[in-house]
Amino acid sequence: MQILASLVTVVIFINILGVVGAVEGDSASKKSGCGKKGGSGSGGQGGNCANITAAVTYIQAFSPQIKAHTLDTRAAFVNADTTQGDWQFQGKVFRAWETQETSTVPLNRFLTQVNQDYIFTTASSVSGFGANGVVAYVYPSQICGSIPLLGASNSAAGDHYYTTDAHEHASLTSGGWSDAGISGYVLPLDDAVTEHGMEWRSYLVLFPV
Ligand SMILES: *[C@@H]1O[C@H](CO)[C@@H](O)[C@H](O)[C@H]1NC(C)=O
Repeated sequence: MQILASLVTVVIFINILGVVGAVEGDSASKKSGCGKKGGSGSGGQGGNCANITAAVTYIQAFSPQIKAHTLDTRAAFVNADTTQGDWQFQGKVFRAWETQETSTVPLNRFLTQVNQDYIFTTASSVSGFGANGVVAYVYPSQICGSIPLLGASNSAAGDHYYTTDAHEHASLTSGGWSDAGISGYVLPLDDAVTEHGMEWRSYLVLFPV
């Protein structure tokens, strides 16, 4: 009696979010106006998620002239640089929406003229800062595969910096910056997982025949 081991590739469907059928249910049952339910249930939040295909990439830019970091789309900075700014591109930070989508809220930009410091938050006002427009639409809580947008503040320099990288944020806060909290919840840059809320993995499985 001989057992032959045969090497077979089995593709296993893994739902990274642990929400079975969330995405399939999304396209079929997407309705506007039912966004507030997102994240409250044990699964099945797909119908309340924003349209991932419509999300765009936001970058961070820095102005040496006013010593300020800020966030916007690259196109916005291209236009600002051409007209009057000196924004240097610092890299991609996250993805979010330029128009309001299911379950999203405005990510507001606030500015103080005192030291040209920009703050990003879903709050509707910031003490000492003036409203400076809506820069994106983001989730108000961690739903639909979103991640926190973390703020750090250097009050001596009058600068805020935003990242989705917890290690980067921790480096700044342990290096003299203060934690400025979570600005909102955004999509990660890597959409291999979040594009479909799932990931295909290949496994080599040995079994007897
Ligand atoms: C999602 O966004 C894409 C790109 O903007 C658009 O083509 C598509 O129709 C949208 N889907 C839904 C269900 O709104």
